[in-house]
Amino acid sequence: MFQNNLLAGKRVLVTGGATGLGKSMGKRFLELGASLYICGRRKEVLAETAAELRQATSGTVKTFACDVRDAARVEAMIETFWQDGPLDILVNNAAGNFIARTEDLSTGAFEAVIGIVLMGTINVTMACGRRWLKEKHHANVLNISTTYAELGSGYVVPSAIAKAGVLAMTRSLAVEWGKHSIRFNAIGPGAIPTEGAFSRLLPVKELEEQARKHSPVGRFGTHEELADLAAFLVSDHAGYINGEFIIMDGGALLKGAGSFNQFGDMLTDEQWQAIRPKKKS
Ligand code: HXC
Ligand code: NAP
Repeated sequence: MFQNNLLAGKRVLVTGGATGLGKSMGKRFLELGASLYICGRRKEVLAETAAELRQATSGTVKTFACDVRDAARVEAMIETFWQDGPLDILVNNAAGNFIARTEDLSTGAFEAVIGIVLMGTINVTMACGRRWLKEKHHANVLNISTTYAELGSGYVVPSAIAKAGVLAMTRSLAVEWGKHSIRFNAIGPGAIPTEGAFSRLLPVKELEEQARKHSPVGRFGTHEELADLAAFLVSDHAGYINGEFIIMDGGALLKGAGSFNQFGDMLTDEQWQAIRPKKKS
């Protein structure tokens, strides 16, 4: 889809880049010529992924074990990565989430998810942003959000609150830092199979099947589809796209919006025929 030097010379940090969608985006960025930096809390997982990605792409991959909730640790990570030269692209992908009835959540549960998603995104963005502004370095940030960031969702309320905050940050800083040539965009992916998300959000087979069927296109998204969209948005070819929230979900969010959309899954051919007015003879 792209020329393989699309991201040549770019230094990209993907938070939570050792697993799932972060790993797939990182691989794509490496294939397109970028140098990759990844962080996460688990050192062994980072090392394993870095080795795998180096082997697969012959690219440069550096890691730093870091909990993005810990602002001092984030600062140390960014300082270390900056020794190679300024980062050009930040993908805020690290997240925490699980389904629960909201009345069952402890304060610690809210803090865990909001801490990772909202404060983590703020911590890494500010550590990079202050350096970009000081050095007058052109850069861009891509935030991985969710389809429910604008409208909210029951049963994932801490995540909905945090992702809404991330979207507000995306749109606010797109304007405030746009004049410094620092772009901000966000993607809202629909369900894409990963161990991290599916084990916590669709832990029962029936829920997974229900989620798949809810998609107008009858399937989940793929890692490649997300990675290609991300690669375009962080590339210089998307230089005039700033402050956008791009939903990539096969139309699933819209399906929930139309009052009659569910009928397509409910009514049989016979029922549709029975509803039609009889031909006047
Ligand atoms: C209720 C829960 C819970 C659950 C944890 N807690 N899991 N409460 N239901 N399923 C509570 C704990 O009891 C604890 O409460 C508090 O939350 C913190 O839990 P810890 O395990 O101590 O936190 P921590 O080790 O920081 O782990 C964070 C985590 C965990 C979010 C809870 O799941 C995690 O590490 N997740 C990272 C990966 C991830 O979530 N990936 C999915 C992203 S998918 P107390 O009261 O003891 O403090 C996504 C969008 C998907 O975001 C959209 C799909 C369409
Ligand atoms: P995942 O594999 O669980 O990815 C989450 C990553 O974040 C992990 O690598 C995890 O590594 C890291 N992380 C979690 N807490 C962290 C912390 N405190 N500090 C640093 N890193 C932390 O799940 P995924 O499905 O790929 O999710 C990736 C992104 O896509 C998330 O933003 C998620 O909200 C979004 N998303 C996913 C889907 C989907 O269907 N998969 C749909 C919509 C949006 P450690 O555990 O080692 O820290």
